[in-house]
Amino acid sequence: MQIQRLVDLEDYEFDTLLVTYNHKNRLSIELGKVSEIFKALQDDDLVGGSKVYGLRGKDFSYQGQPYYNLIFIGIPEHASPRRYQLQFGAALKEAKKLKGRNLLMTAIGDDVSYWLSSAMRGILLADYSFDKYISDRKESPELNLGILTGVDSASFKKEEQYSHMMASAVTLARDLVNEPANVMTPAALADAAKEVCEKNNIKCTILEREDCEALGMNAFLAVARGSKQPPKLIVMEYNGRVTDEEKIALIGKGICYDSGGYNLKPTPGLKGMHKDMGGAAAIIAAMGAIAQSKLGINVTAVIPACENMVSGKAMRTGDIVASMSGKYIEVVNTDGEGRMTLADAITYAIRECGATSLIDVATLTGACITALGSRYTGVFSNSDELVAKLVQASILAGENIWRMPLGDDEYRDLNASAVADVANCGTQCGAIAAARFLNEFVERKPWIHMDIAGTSDSDADTEIYSKGGTGVATMTLYEFVKLMEKPYKSY
Ligand code: BES
Ligand code: MN
Ligand code: ZN
Repeated sequence: MQIQRLVDLEDYEFDTLLVTYNHKNRLSIELGKVSEIFKALQDDDLVGGSKVYGLRGKDFSYQGQPYYNLIFIGIPEHASPRRYQLQFGAALKEAKKLKGRNLLMTAIGDDVSYWLSSAMRGILLADYSFDKYISDRKESPELNLGILTGVDSASFKKEEQYSHMMASAVTLARDLVNEPANVMTPAALADAAKEVCEKNNIKCTILEREDCEALGMNAFLAVARGSKQPPKLIVMEYNGRVTDEEKIALIGKGICYDSGGYNLKPTPGLKGMHKDMGGAAAIIAAMGAIAQSKLGINVTAVIPACENMVSGKAMRTGDIVASMSGKYIEVVNTDGEGRMTLADAITYAIRECGATSLIDVATLTGACITALGSRYTGVFSNSDELVAKLVQASILAGENIWRMPLGDDEYRDLNASAVADVANCGTQCGAIAAARFLNEFVERKPWIHMDIAGTSDSDADTEIYSKGGTGVATMTLYEFVKLMEKPYKSY
């Protein structure tokens, strides 16, 4: 989608007008007809609050120019960046329904810099579909968005470029997630990471099974063992501040298919399990944006990519595996595979890459979906300081997170094993148990775990989402890394 800044309406022919209204029902564009139509809709309760309503009209016109579609966008009082994204995303969906091609909106007022990029991102994010495997799909024409504004051209360009960069990163993450498992194998995921690295000058290393064996990554390899697809440990190293000793590690769950293993998932549970690599996808995409923006900070991504399958070689319940950290893990449930792969990836990040702080992102537990649903990512951490940064980042990104407890001594025995150092599953508090399991491997480094099991996938086309991968965490990770960037030391 093209976004252009307009100072007047000369040379811009539009067919769809986006009009916002605030909590006092004040319209961003007050014109005889527009206000009249709005009032009529008010009487029918079709607008108000955060409602977005579009109508096709043949006889609306604006300063002599004909246009056809009118879309009213409710902006609640104190709307967050998230809310702006959702509202403008919903508006874009209305515009597409009405077959609008050239949209016009205004961005005028004191608070424009607060919301402009959120509106842009909302519109760009909503303009996504994954239809490459539908043979008779209709090629949707490229849309244009004209924004009539007093914002100067340099600031506008900055917002526009940032929004496009974020949206294409999220789009990449969504594409990776939506590809089926017969296409998006661990090898294909590694290729996708390589491509991002080549484009953005990031160092990329793919460790093969033998490399992981040599490193003693037996927890990761135990999960991978049941599949014909060879595992790949994807390592992306971006060093934006080589003089700095600090290094953030981003660890992404990259299970390209989760059958559950011998604890085989029943039919409803298997559905969508090719999307069990949403964490990996978000991290690959965020790394691209981080490098593209040349952020002054060192970030390394570690992604253990494999499938969790059933075969004569697959891991069994009761197996005891020696993780790379040295801790023995009892496999109580083969469906608790993600945490086993992440355990070794965390150890690798600390011991081989020198990570000084860590964030892992994983579609880890059904329990997190039960707790928070599909609109809040569960966050667990041993560091209040890091969480404060993540909260800030998530607000800028427009993604919801909610902190959950690790429980410290309260839940000490959640993953207790009678035969090994730790069990891969507990019997209660599913999301917390999984987080506590990961905590066993972080060697007291500041660490955040994001459980995106609920937020990584959308079961409907709503606002900024299309059915399927959401690309969640891509934007939050980018903003987080940006906040962690430090000014150069003066020597
Ligand atoms: N990939 C699943 C979690 C999941 C479930 C993600 C539904 C998205 C939608 C994970 O590997 C898993 O199977 N978790 C188990 C853990 C249990 C065996 C302790 C779960 O949540 O049931
Ligand atoms: Mn599983
Ligand atoms: Zn899984």
